[in-house]
Amino acid sequence: MNYKNLIKEFLSYFGGDDKGIRIFTSPGRVNLIGEHTDYSGGYVFPAALTLATTVVARPRDDRKIRLIATDLKEMVEADLDNLETYKDLKWGNYQLGVADELQKAGYNIIGCDLMYEDKVPLGSGLSSSAAIEVATAIALVSLGDPEYGRSKEIDKIEMAKISQIAEHNYVGVKCGIMDQFASAMGKKDHAIFLNCRDLSYELVPIRLSGYSLIIGNTNKKRSLGEGKYNERRAECEQGFAILKKEMPEISYLGEITVWNFENKKHLIEDDVILKRVQHVVYENHRVLESVEALKQGDLNRFGQLMNASHDSLRDLYEVTGKELDTMVNEARKVDGVLGARMTGAGFGGCTVSLVRNDMVDEFIERVGKAYREQIGYDASFYISEIGDGGRELKFKEV
Ligand code: GLA
Repeated sequence: MNYKNLIKEFLSYFGGDDKGIRIFTSPGRVNLIGEHTDYSGGYVFPAALTLATTVVARPRDDRKIRLIATDLKEMVEADLDNLETYKDLKWGNYQLGVADELQKAGYNIIGCDLMYEDKVPLGSGLSSSAAIEVATAIALVSLGDPEYGRSKEIDKIEMAKISQIAEHNYVGVKCGIMDQFASAMGKKDHAIFLNCRDLSYELVPIRLSGYSLIIGNTNKKRSLGEGKYNERRAECEQGFAILKKEMPEISYLGEITVWNFENKKHLIEDDVILKRVQHVVYENHRVLESVEALKQGDLNRFGQLMNASHDSLRDLYEVTGKELDTMVNEARKVDGVLGARMTGAGFGGCTVSLVRNDMVDEFIERVGKAYREQIGYDASFYISEIGDGGRELKFKEV
């Protein structure tokens, strides 16, 4: 990335000179396993990508925020003392939502010009929104208190939490904490084994000797705001309320073990609710098994768990759809593929497959061709590189 060009582009929109300019970045994520468990207080196992949102930022001396994106040249201007009024913007509500929630949390936010370069494919299930939110949070907090990044450290977990609240209140998606946490806290070549009940986490080195994680983008755009996501969340809450009556000691669905579930599942009479809960309980268990398998270098086992995860998301949680299922089915037919599953919220978006290195080219060709034949348009593929979480790009990197 040529940051000099980014700064040049910034100046072409906002004028002035490069005095006071700082650059921040935060990545998208791929979730290895643990899907639709976070908002039930379960386990997840995501990794930050090297694909990221980068923000070029410069303070202003009034109370305005101006936003622009390199791929969307319409400028949005907002008044920091009136942020509640910008909830219905076509673009910019993620950023302004974060600014508003930061102010409500007591952070000093100052006027600034911000230019976004988004490298996470939008609406693809790789957390493009969390990348924007967390990059914005780190940028705004750092500009508001210049000591951040110097003598003071930003509390990145808090940035993740505030970003999540902004997504609830400004975008209307009642998302869990996984995406924002992974974007803020990722570490190169590590996945994050996160307990969403209390945000305790462990960074697990990802060594895939001889294998790669290949992301396949179905290029089926989806918007979580369309309601299915919140509907699933509500179904889990219903299931939890039923089980809690007989297990008053539990505070989250994610605490229920497979054994407890099997003993109590007769309490849930509604078939749909039962399927949703069964997914969460077993998926949660698959995360624990996956972490162990990867620690022991047992890629075969991890691959089986990936497959089981997808099948459960297809049959029990019902969030896959034709495009994701086609891509996963075709992926599994290729030699040297140990497992394939959807990643993220589903309803379109991306898959992740564990592919032997010597088969990567063939994998992309064969799955790409079959996908085009069956779906009618092209998929895209990325070899996923696991990168660091949200941060300011220091002079050296710039
Ligand atoms: C989206 C949400 C996350 C999580 C996943 C599904 O990415 O933002 O909180 O619920 O879907 O695992």
